[in-house]
Amino acid sequence: MNHKQIRKIFLSFFKRKKHKILNSASLVAKKDSSLMFTNAGMNIFQAFFIGQKKSQYSRIANFQKCLRITGKHNDLFEVGKDTYHHTMFEMLGNWSFGDYFKKESINWAWELLTEVYKMDKSNIYVTIFKGNKEDKLSFDSESFQYWKNKIDDSKILFFDKKHNFWEMGKTGPCGTCTEIHVDLRNEKEKLQIPGKNLVNKKHPLVIELWNIVFIQFFRKSDGTLVKLPNFHIDTGMGFERLCMILQNKKSTYDTDIFTYLIKSIAQKTDQIYGVTDKIDIAIRIIADHMRSVVFAISDGIIPSNKKYGYVIRKILRRIIVTYYLTLKINKPFLFKLVNPILCYMKHSYLKKSNTSLKYDISTIILREEKLFLKTINLGSYKLEKIIEELRAKKCNIIAGKIIYWLYDTYGLPIEISKLITNKNKIKVFSYDSL
Ligand code: SER
Repeated sequence: MNHKQIRKIFLSFFKRKKHKILNSASLVAKKDSSLMFTNAGMNIFQAFFIGQKKSQYSRIANFQKCLRITGKHNDLFEVGKDTYHHTMFEMLGNWSFGDYFKKESINWAWELLTEVYKMDKSNIYVTIFKGNKEDKLSFDSESFQYWKNKIDDSKILFFDKKHNFWEMGKTGPCGTCTEIHVDLRNEKEKLQIPGKNLVNKKHPLVIELWNIVFIQFFRKSDGTLVKLPNFHIDTGMGFERLCMILQNKKSTYDTDIFTYLIKSIAQKTDQIYGVTDKIDIAIRIIADHMRSVVFAISDGIIPSNKKYGYVIRKILRRIIVTYYLTLKINKPFLFKLVNPILCYMKHSYLKKSNTSLKYDISTIILREEKLFLKTINLGSYKLEKIIEELRAKKCNIIAGKIIYWLYDTYGLPIEISKLITNKNKIKVFSYDSL
């Protein structure tokens, strides 16, 4: 199954269960002052959950692009190093607004995964909220009963609120949740360590797939929970992870969502993906972050020094530092990756012809790359000059505050200063001040 079929099957399944199908909303969390970017499918439905507005439909299913680079949910620093986190990812969700609750959401999740997608039941583990004294919440025995009818007791695991209570930020609609995890290791590895020992342990092949949240409360700014007048369902299944499982891959970056882009990056940078860890990490960072940047720009966020634009500029600069340091590239090339990303987006995210969009986004990215490479080159030149002067004085130590000053004044990233000082065998005294 390719990713388009996988998405379609999800939506058709819930359409048969009488859900209204909606397309993704923007990445910009316009209606929510506590969020910058849409970080979960539920953001756009908050008003329905808290009873501020009534939804025209009591059941909805959708796919939603999400960006997790700021705030409570921030995956920026996991990306690339592992093979399954993303800054921009898609979430498949089904929603009930005061309609069905635990029984149907658990039954349908199981039916879809095991009967429609035909996932191997023996690889599935589920987690349940075990209760929390501070929030005065008890063990979720109801979910336990529903899961017990489907899956062996030994595969039902209990976790505290860190894993089984979902909230979008400090305040807002929230609730306990049950999660579905999948063990993708081979039989030999499974015999050595049982999958249940690896759930929620950041193992790259024992991963969380689907979160089913029972929205029952509102978290107030003083930290207390207030019960909502109606109960709702918010589910979120990671689309990239679902594709990884159904396409029998060991990494989301090996699914057909990414292969074309990874190939493009490897070709344009003259690298081979899948040989060296360091290069692979850099390529994954570029692929992931570029998708974030292109999706964000197509939602109208232009890199700048302010708010949304600043966050996107920082992501773009992270990519440039990565290719400069690891792939030793010193000329713009990211703008050439816009096309493969737009080709992916075309199917579900772009309505009209993408010709002008491609031109606009490429131009914006090229301008940013040129600007930042110029900054890096000027800053590096200044640092090399300072090092020359130190050498003339037979000194091989540079003050940390100079590195900081170069960053502050010329925008030279600290990682690049480190590279230059290391290359010149100059010690920095000390980085503590940085
Ligand atoms: N809100 C939950 C999450 O983002 C489920 O959609 O994980």
